[in-house]
Amino acid sequence: MSFTVAIDGPAAAGKGTISKAVAAHFGFAHLDTGLLYRAVGAKVLAGASPIEAARALDPVDLEDDSLRTPAVAQAASEVAVIAQVRDALVDFQRNFAARGQGAVLDGRDIGTVVCPLADAKLFVTASPERRATRRFDELVAKGMDVALDDVIADVKERDARDRNRAASPLVPADDAYMLDTSDLTIDQAIAAAIAIIADRMS
Ligand code: DC
Repeated sequence: MSFTVAIDGPAAAGKGTISKAVAAHFGFAHLDTGLLYRAVGAKVLAGASPIEAARALDPVDLEDDSLRTPAVAQAASEVAVIAQVRDALVDFQRNFAARGQGAVLDGRDIGTVVCPLADAKLFVTASPERRATRRFDELVAKGMDVALDDVIADVKERDARDRNRAASPLVPADDAYMLDTSDLTIDQAIAAAIAIIADRMS
């Protein structure tokens, strides 16, 4: 039996870092489902049609470093409103969840749509300003030339689109544990997530 952990939340709340650490702690596989939408977004920026790009997605496409740019993040959020794009990506995510001893999937709709029966669900949040500052620091550390105001506007625009779309909007599952990381260090947030999941296992 595979143990599935669903970790959802808005952009830059810390779910990627938490998910990686949780997966390493429990020896589970990890899938950052945002990369699927980013890979489709990148293909659309290069001229492809969103639905065809989603249907033709190859796992190798997820390894491209250029998927981490703000332009690709925006394109990902735009293709993510298309129900047929989401449908084309759901089987890949469910198959990933079912493999091995356990899997951690992070995204926007894992606990609500992709894996509604997940064994543990977390919804990771933080204030928009805190999230934008963290994302700004990450991009600067990668050597990107970005302005804080642009990053704040970008995070808010993506939040609004992710929350208000008709297909699988960003919303906590009824049975998700809410983890607000605004005033936590990354180590505290990871420890809290591990404690919640360990509790669900016992
Ligand atoms: O997690 P991220 O910032 O890499 O995600 C990029 C975009 O992809 C995000 O703005 C919305 C979309 N996305 C989604 O709709 N559903 C998911 N499960 C993951 C990401």
